[in-house]
Amino acid sequence: MSSTSNKTIAFFGATGGCANACLAYALNAGHHATALARTPPKLTSKLLAQGVSQTTLDTNLRIIKGDATDVAAVKSTILLGDGNDNGGSPALVASIVSGLGGTPSLETRKLIIPRFKLDNPHITEETTEALLSALRELYAQYPDLLNKPVLTVISTTGVTKQGQPKDVPLLLRPLYRTFLQLPHDDKRRMEDLVSANQDLFSGTVIVRPTLLAGDGSLTSAKGLQHVRVGTESKPALGYQITKTDVGLWIFEEVIQGDGQKWLGKKVSLTS
Ligand SMILES: NC(=O)c1ccc[n+]([C@@H]2O[C@H](COP(=O)([O-])OP(=O)(O)OC[C@H]3O[C@@H](n4cnc5c(N)ncnc54)[C@H](OP(=O)(O)O)[C@@H]3O)[C@@H](O)[C@H]2O)c1
Repeated sequence: MSSTSNKTIAFFGATGGCANACLAYALNAGHHATALARTPPKLTSKLLAQGVSQTTLDTNLRIIKGDATDVAAVKSTILLGDGNDNGGSPALVASIVSGLGGTPSLETRKLIIPRFKLDNPHITEETTEALLSALRELYAQYPDLLNKPVLTVISTTGVTKQGQPKDVPLLLRPLYRTFLQLPHDDKRRMEDLVSANQDLFSGTVIVRPTLLAGDGSLTSAKGLQHVRVGTESKPALGYQITKTDVGLWIFEEVIQGDGQKWLGKKVSLTS
């Protein structure tokens, strides 16, 4: 990964706080991006509110309207050239950032302890399967594709496997075990799919933030000096981190900087 040249990055879930902040940083730094959105005007108004100019949106961002479970829409988002972008020969984006997640509501009926219900409890699993299918189809369709993208997915703490050091403080563990069980089962399945399909990417980074705070607006960034970073063998234990700082970390470490040292890692982030 080059640390200086501008590249094209594909975003999924960019109307959500973490990925939106990351996309805004990337566009403001001069990178080109594609973004899949169910409601494109929601994405553009969020980016304008982040201080990204209309000119930058017009020149550096291609928005694909669609659903992230739709393989054809995913292929359009990650393929450049071949009529999708500015012409030229087909190529894949250099990097993919996914902050996809379900819409939560509280389930209380017949439960002693309430828990999160998701509009789709398989959202990150299904969208990862769609991404893997899209890549397999594109590699088959264009055998001359020169590059494989780096994939960064936003997962969560609290999904470590047995035998690995715990990445959730003792006080939070009951909450994680009960309340957050559904989204975490989905994240486990997503992580397993990513780990089992490394060959489709030039590298993968699984980001595991603690509880998320804020709305992802760039004005609420605390800065990387306030972010503690851990790995699977030595996780960073903490309670919360702003969505903005998660987006900032991905931007600085994986997109802008030389993210080689994070490839293949499960990176815990907290403040
Ligand atoms: N909340 C926490 O404390 C916490 C802690 C750790 C990790 N996480 C995880 O971190 C990730 C990022 O969270 P966030 O708060 O930044 O984002 P978020 O608000 O959860 O946003 C989710 C994004 O996914 C999109 N999306 C959902 N289903 C889609 C579909 N079928 N097709 C296309 N787009 C779809 C949403 O688009 P629309 O605008 O169209 O709905 C939105 O852009 C999520 O996976 C979340 O579960 C959360």
